[in-house]
Amino acid sequence: MFFQNNINRNKYFFQNIIFLFFFLFPNISFAAGDTISYPKKDWSFSGIMGTYDRASQQRGLQVYQEVCSGCHGLRLVAYRNLKALGYNDEEVKAFAAENSVQDINEDGETIERPARSSDKFVSPYPNDLAARAGNGGAYPPDLSLIVKSRSGGADYLHALLTGYKDAPSNKNVPDGMYFNSYYQGNLIGMPQPLYEDGVTYADGTKATPAQMAKDVATFLAWASEPELEDRKRIGISVICFLLVLTILSYFAMRQIWAPIKSREKKTS
Ligand code: HEC
Repeated sequence: MFFQNNINRNKYFFQNIIFLFFFLFPNISFAAGDTISYPKKDWSFSGIMGTYDRASQQRGLQVYQEVCSGCHGLRLVAYRNLKALGYNDEEVKAFAAENSVQDINEDGETIERPARSSDKFVSPYPNDLAARAGNGGAYPPDLSLIVKSRSGGADYLHALLTGYKDAPSNKNVPDGMYFNSYYQGNLIGMPQPLYEDGVTYADGTKATPAQMAKDVATFLAWASEPELEDRKRIGISVICFLLVLTILSYFAMRQIWAPIKSREKKTS
């Protein structure tokens, strides 16, 4: 019995140590091979008080729409979600209506109609095979969750988009592949998407590749985690509530124990 208990305790001891380890170092990875580190950028949405920079999100939407959407879908985001970026109903409706979607009419016939606010972003390819066929065999992933699904998140995206370089002379770059210093293995099937003045920003911001990468990463970070601002707001109010509750319970505790303490003092 005693022996059994001991084993159990040991088992939990190691489990707890492992748990503590991952708690302390959440970003650790045991991937084989060289791990690439990405330059850390100053994101408006990092830190416990961080929120998305609206202007940057709007510019990022423009970059996505004018550059990335030719190859990448955003199928988990509905046009009406763009209201979170500060657009009103009319603007969202007009933006959606620039795209067309397949639907069926009352007679059951397939028709094309302009997209509505409630539709999801229209993907550039009808299916994955068409997407591969259009990109020399490489699959351009849907970008809805890309910032959450890659380690390094927005830093990785920024590094990747600005990481195109001339290949070193000893590196053979096959046709249809491009050298990128931040892609695992350095050869990527995506041609460099961002060039100086690739878009003309409505707000007059200079469209350098670094600026566009920052904006599109901010926009895609929001797409990956639209509830981030609410989550932080609720988190902060919960912490404030718990703080007040702790202070109140401390004074309540003192008051409840006061008669017992004073009796203790008298008897001692
Ligand atoms: C001409 C088509 C094309 C355009 C335009 C394009 N991409 Fe890509 N992208 C691809 C392809 C193809 C891949 C897959 C590459 C591979 O697997 O080697 C890819 C892969 C990616 C990846 C995944 C990298 C990884 O870690 O697996 C990200 C992120 C990405 N693209 C972001 C973007 C963003 C952001 C834009 C707009 C600024 C953009 N792409 C524009 C074709 C494109």
